[in-house]
Amino acid sequence: MAKKILILNGSPRANGNTAALIDAFTEGAQAAGHTITRFDLRSMKVNGCLGCCRGGKDPQNPCVQRDDMAKIYPVYQEADLVVFASPLYYWGFSGQLKCAIDRLFAVAELDPDCRNPIKSAALLMAAEDTYDNTFAPVLFYYQSVLRNLGWTDCGHVCAGGNLEAGAILQKPGQLAQARALGASL
Ligand SMILES: Cc1cc2nc3c(=O)[nH]c(=O)nc-3n(C[C@H](O)[C@H](O)[C@H](O)COP(=O)(O)O)c2cc1C
Repeated sequence: MAKKILILNGSPRANGNTAALIDAFTEGAQAAGHTITRFDLRSMKVNGCLGCCRGGKDPQNPCVQRDDMAKIYPVYQEADLVVFASPLYYWGFSGQLKCAIDRLFAVAELDPDCRNPIKSAALLMAAEDTYDNTFAPVLFYYQSVLRNLGWTDCGHVCAGGNLEAGAILQKPGQLAQARALGASL
């Protein structure tokens, strides 16, 4: 069945390695008939959560803050699958992506029991290191989020060995993994 896929791109580099993973994933997913909506957070104004817990009143724009999350909320609410795409920064997601994720809490606040909507997810990530445990902390976090939200994990591509923007273009195997993940959904 055709899925609505939301991609949250947390990389600050327009032509970076995360962007290349996203392009390959998108190719695979679109060939399989899925619809992609991608937000490049680097060129959007997405503030950090204020922790006010006063959201959840307006279904269209449930946060009290007025910024570019207003564009993301309706797509998120419609999406079957959310792709978290980010460079590995200090063994975690980039700040840009984490801010957007925290702001999704305002959607949960629409529910009387503060339940998050149930979705599937995937992870696309680039990093410099290639150690056995390079991605262990971020995968633990990603899988913990999904487990606690009750979301289904559709898979991840963690592409190490990529420091400079575009380094991944010399690694067709990593891009093929991202394309295959998109096509597998
Ligand atoms: C602030 C910062 C923190 C980083 N932290 C890590 C890290 O913890 N582990 C790692 O392997 N690479 C780390 N890197 C390297 C990036 O993950 C790597 O360059 C990645 O390919 C960048 O993706 P992009 O091209 O999409 O921006 C860091 C880079 C920056 C700028």
